[in-house]
Amino acid sequence: MTAVSTESLQGAEGRNGNYPGKGIGAPVGVAVLGMGTVGTEVLRLIHEFSSSLENRIGGPIEVRGVAVSDLTKKRDVLDNFPGITLTDNAHELVEREDVDVVVEVIGGIDYPRELVLSALKHGKSVVTANKALIAAHADEISDAANAAGVDLYYEAAVAAAIPVVGMLRRSLAGDQVQRISGIVNGTTNFILDAMASTGASYEEALAEATRLGYAEADPTADVEGHDAASKAAILASMGFHTRVTYNDVHAEGITNITADDIEAARLAGYTIKLLAICERLVDDEGATTVSARVHPTLVPNEHPLATVDKSYNAVFVEAEAAGRLMFYGNGAGGAPTASAVLGDIVGAARNKIHGGRAPAENPYAHYPVADFGDVPTRYHIDMAVVDRVGVLAEISRRFADQGISISAVRQEEHGDDSRLIVVTHASLERKLAAIVEELKTLDDVRAINSVIRLDG
Ligand code: NDP
Ligand code: HSE
Repeated sequence: MTAVSTESLQGAEGRNGNYPGKGIGAPVGVAVLGMGTVGTEVLRLIHEFSSSLENRIGGPIEVRGVAVSDLTKKRDVLDNFPGITLTDNAHELVEREDVDVVVEVIGGIDYPRELVLSALKHGKSVVTANKALIAAHADEISDAANAAGVDLYYEAAVAAAIPVVGMLRRSLAGDQVQRISGIVNGTTNFILDAMASTGASYEEALAEATRLGYAEADPTADVEGHDAASKAAILASMGFHTRVTYNDVHAEGITNITADDIEAARLAGYTIKLLAICERLVDDEGATTVSARVHPTLVPNEHPLATVDKSYNAVFVEAEAAGRLMFYGNGAGGAPTASAVLGDIVGAARNKIHGGRAPAENPYAHYPVADFGDVPTRYHIDMAVVDRVGVLAEISRRFADQGISISAVRQEEHGDDSRLIVVTHASLERKLAAIVEELKTLDDVRAINSVIRLDG
C-alpha cells in the first residue's frame, strides 16, 4: 500500500488558499508567445470567436501583446488586433501588469522554461502546447504554479485537438488506468501511411508533413520518436499519478522502417505504427512499476489503431472500471492545436474571472519506472537463412532454450536462401533482444532483416 501524504493531496486546490476572481465583466489580458503554425491560429480563433468566448468566460479576452523572433515578417492576422504590442522581448511581455494569462507556443525547452517560470512567478496562469517542456520540467513548473496559486494547462501538448489530458486529469480521475497505447505523432503516422498507401518515399512524405505544418521545427524530434516520447511521459504521469519524464521513456523512431518492412507487415495482416505505450506492470511479488516506451509496432489490421491514417492520432485507454476507451482525431496542425489551446485559455480565463484553480497534477503514487529490459513484449523477426534441412529446427531450439515461445513461423524461398519470419509470444524485452543477438552468431542466419515489436 502506498503511503499518501496530506500535502500531496493539496495539489488540486493549492495549499487550501483562496483564489479570488476579478469579477464578471472584467477583461482578461492575454499574451501570446510565438506566432507560427499554432500561434497564428490561436489569434485567428480568438478574433473569430470573440463574442462567444466572452459569454463563456464571463468577460472579454483582450490580447495585450504577441512575442515573435522576427519583427519584420508580415502577419495578416494582427490586422484584427489594432494597437497591440508586437515584440521580440517576450520576457517584458510576460511581466506586464495587465497580462493575466500567458500562452506559450514558441517551442524548445530552455527559453520557454524561463518564460513560463517568470510568468508563473508574476502570477499569470500559463497555457502551453509544449510537450518537450512539460515532459522535461513538469515538476518544477507545477511547483511554481502551485506556489503562485495560478493555473497551468497543456491540453495541446498531447495529441493536439484530442482532449486526452483533460480526460485523464478529470474524467478518469477516479478510475485505475492500466494501459494507454496510442498514435501520438501526426508526422510519423502521415509518413508511414503515405509509404504504405501511395508508395511515397520516406523523404517525400516527410517533406509534405513539414509543408502541412505537422512536423516540429526540427523534424528529427518526430521521426526519431522524441516528440512521441515527450507525449508518452505526460500520458504516463497523468494516467499513473507518478512523475515520468522524457528521460524515462525508451524511444525508437521510424527512420529504419523500409518499404520491405511495410510490405512484409501487410502480407502478414499487420500495419506498422509508431506507438506510444504506457503500462502499469505488477510483478510476481505484487510490486507495481510503470513503463513508457515508443517504437514502431506491428498492429493487427483488425485493431482500431491500425486504421488511423494520415496525420490523425488515436489514444486507446484501458481502465479498470471504464474498460476500453478510444479517442481519435486531429493530432497536429495549426487549427486543431489552436482549438485545444483555446479551450485551455477559456479554462484559465474563467478562473481569473470567477476565482478558483483548475485541478493540478498529483503524482502521489511515485511508482518506480521499470527498466526497459523488464517489459513484456512480442517480436516479429525477419531474417535471411540458409535453405537447408534442419535450419528451422535449430532456430526453434534456440528459442526454446531461452524459454521464448514462438507464435508463428513463415518461410519463403529466396534463391539459394530462405526468408524466415518468426513471431514470438510475449516475453521480456531483454530475453528477446538476447535471442536476436544469438541468432546473429549462427552460420545459417545470413542476416537479420528487421526486428519489429508487435502489440496485441
Ligand atoms: P513554429 O515554429 O511554427 O512557430 C514558433 C514561433 O515561435 C514563431 O512565431 C517564432 O517567431 C516564435 N519564436 C521563436 N523564437 C522566439 C523567441 N526567442 N521569442 C519569441 N518568439 C519566438 O512552431 P509551432 O507553432 O508549430 O509550434 C509551437 C509549439 O506548439 C511547439 O511547442 C510545438 O511542439 C507545439 N505543438 C505544435 C503542433 C503543430 O502541429 N505544429 C501541435 C501540437 C503542439 P517567428 O514567427 O518570428 O519566426
Ligand atoms: N510534430 C507533432 C506531430 C505536432 O507531428 O504530431 C503535434 O504535437
